[in-house]
Amino acid sequence: MRVLSGIQPTGEMHIGNYLGAAKQWVEIQEKHESLFMVADLHALTVSQNPKNLRKAILNKVIELLSVGLTPEKCTIFIQSHVKEHAELAWIFNTITPLADLQRMTQYKEKSKKHKKNINAGLLTYPVLMAADILLYQTDIVPVGKDQQQHVELTRDIARRFNLNFGTAFKIPKTILAKSGAKIMSLQDPKKKMSKSDNPKTYIGLFEEPKMIRKKIMAAVTDRGKQIIYNPQKKPGISNLLTIYSLFSGKTIKSLEKDFQHEKGYAGFKKSLAELLISSLEPLRRKRKELLKREVYVREVLKQGKKKAELIAKSTTQDVKEKMGLI
Ligand code: TYM
Repeated sequence: MRVLSGIQPTGEMHIGNYLGAAKQWVEIQEKHESLFMVADLHALTVSQNPKNLRKAILNKVIELLSVGLTPEKCTIFIQSHVKEHAELAWIFNTITPLADLQRMTQYKEKSKKHKKNINAGLLTYPVLMAADILLYQTDIVPVGKDQQQHVELTRDIARRFNLNFGTAFKIPKTILAKSGAKIMSLQDPKKKMSKSDNPKTYIGLFEEPKMIRKKIMAAVTDRGKQIIYNPQKKPGISNLLTIYSLFSGKTIKSLEKDFQHEKGYAGFKKSLAELLISSLEPLRRKRKELLKREVYVREVLKQGKKKAELIAKSTTQDVKEKMGLI
């Protein structure tokens, strides 16, 4: 089985990215041949400051290494280092109906949010993502719920190409985290946690203990005083229970029991903040170490590019031949 997934470089990795995606990646690298990439080309679909972007890309690689991905067990690379991504995306543009792209939820949301910069890349974003996935003959794509629709479109593109030009691609499957595929905002538990929102709405993976305490204590909760899981009636507490459960390894049922005698939310929140602080401490330490090892990080990327390129080139060659390019 081959696995591929990616993350955009901009914004700090938060516990939503971790619980929905990166935590699975760390487990998956033990079992399957895995490739993980920093999607820098995708980041260009919203306006970026070049100086900040340059920093953010390397930072994201450091974050991936800090959460436990290791170059001995998986391939870590930067999307733009393998030029076949852009090449295959162009080819896929020519076989993807415009209407399929216009109905994508992320496109609709992002074009509302970035009204002054509705560029063509925002629309064709999922086509590039299809290229990312299909280039590597990927079997499994571990992502959070918000990316599922894009993987569905990827499957359509693969099927269409195979039907029209002969089989060149495997049809990939999404895997979602059993729980944690959609961690919600701390300030509005009806919205997903997002790194492009106000920092009050998320907990960064490498955040200082003081900030973690502050943000958890200020997290929006619901009416009543009971710690019970009910996403419809108590979305705030339910989100915090999900986070607690995933970091502690305890079931939500047993957490409800542990906190059944609490007279309000404060005790539960304090306990959650301390759990997050101690769970994230090793990641924070690892990141500090890696920040001093830029040469090593760049070497990881060089090796990653080499390995990824080998597979990407062979797929692209086959595709071009099948399409009649000489
Ligand atoms: P990105 O950078 O937005 O997010 C990285 C991963 O984190 C997941 N995620 C969440 N999971 C649970 N709760 C949340 N609140 C939450 N927020 C984000 C995302 O679902 C994702 O799995 N387009 C992708 C990057 C990409 C990619 C790919 C992924 C580019 N090419 C090919 C897979 C395969 C993105 O913007 O992810």
